Amino acid sequence: MNVVVLHGSPRKGMNSDTLADQFLSGLHEQGEHKVTHFYTNEMEIRPCQGCLHCATSPGHACAIDDDMTEVYAAYRDSDLIVWATPMYWGYITAQLKAVLDRMEALAWEGFEDKTFAVFITYRHHYESTQGFFERIAPHFGIKLHVIPCQTYDPETREDLPISSCVDELAEAYELGRQLSA
Ligand SMILES: Cc1cc2nc3c(=O)[nH]c(=O)nc-3n(C[C@H](O)[C@H](O)[C@H](O)COP(=O)(O)O)c2cc1C
Repeated sequence: MNVVVLHGSPRKGMNSDTLADQFLSGLHEQGEHKVTHFYTNEMEIRPCQGCLHCATSPGHACAIDDDMTEVYAAYRDSDLIVWATPMYWGYITAQLKAVLDRMEALAWEGFEDKTFAVFITYRHHYESTQGFFERIAPHFGIKLHVIPCQTYDPETREDLPISSCVDELAEAYELGRQLSA
């Protein structure tokens, strides 16, 4: 499979990245896959300008020439998209939202029929982000898998290390194994 991993957190290698890594470990247990990582915090990706150039341009190309060009190409060739994001004020991070908005150019054609594996780490709530993916999935024929993971103890009001999220890490690994089969 061709796999694209969209890392939304500015905290490289932390909670959401670790969950995605576990998923990839499970995926690789069952065979070889080409994985392309995009650390969106390190990329030059301008926000969508709403110009709708992509509606009519050849190949639905975006008018903006920046690092999103690589994401478009990888997405088109992919079977599986991994979305790894913390919750930031009720949604995916701004870095990832910029990517998502720019995917308008793919939505005219080429967004469909992918598998999405979404990993959300959070303190209090994740439902708004899960709800977004659940809303678009049927429209685009996307096979959707979402694993939320609370990295916070409401009783002590302290953040937890991702290593303590044993069940979610195992779930992510198992999902990787299943999707690889
Ligand atoms: C700016 C900011 C906003 C956040 N907003 C939320 C939020 O709205 N809901 C929530 O449950 N957690 C929120 N969090 C907590 C993070 O989602 C949580 O700590 C997550 O596990 C961090 O993942 P990461 O290590 O991959 O960056 C916020 C954290 C930051 C830094």
